[in-house]
Amino acid sequence: MNTDQPADVRLERVSVEATLELRQRVLRPHLTPGELVFPHDREPDTAHVVALLADGTVVGTASVLHEGSPWGAPGWRLRGMATDERVRDQGIGSRLLSATIDHVRGQGGGLLWCNARVRAVPFYRRAGLETRGEPWEEPLIGSHIVMWRLV
Ligand SMILES: CC(C)(COP(=O)(O)OP(=O)(O)OC[C@H]1O[C@@H](n2cnc3c(N)ncnc32)[C@H](O)[C@@H]1OP(=O)(O)O)[C@@H](O)C(=O)NCCC(=O)NCCS
Repeated sequence: MNTDQPADVRLERVSVEATLELRQRVLRPHLTPGELVFPHDREPDTAHVVALLADGTVVGTASVLHEGSPWGAPGWRLRGMATDERVRDQGIGSRLLSATIDHVRGQGGGLLWCNARVRAVPFYRRAGLETRGEPWEEPLIGSHIVMWRLV
């Protein structure tokens, strides 16, 4: 993988299976890929989007699932947002996030929310999400805070 130049990627909607290896490696290395299937991952209105190199290597992934917010509002949950560390800071994560927003808009729009890692708060803020409530510590993963926006 050439890391000297921006990675040339294409985005594609895929089944959850295509996301699992990168989800596991970047987000939950203490679990197995099979343990990285989330509730609602296989619902028909769930969207999984990956960023692919020309050779088909998955270097980014994001998913959006129909799931109510922690405060009980109907909405869509963003999950499994991950970019391979070798191709970060090239806008791939932002493109994936935009694709999930497009999906929610295509379903009529609504509330988009996520449990954001505190380190990723500036990334989500740039996409128009804001924090809600107080951060908490997720064992083995780190500090999280809820973020949301209307799309
Ligand atoms: C968050 C993440 C998906 C962003 O992917 P990306 O392809 O680098 O996204 P972009 O290139 O569009 O944006 C990069 C920006 O996000 C910042 N960033 C956000 N969260 C970050 C994190 N956890 N680690 C490192 N950088 C992060 C980068 O510093 C960069 O900011 P800058 O543009 O001001 O320099 C990627 O950093 C990642 O996979 N991090 C580890 C897993 C993670 O935290 N996922 C989010 C779970 S809620």
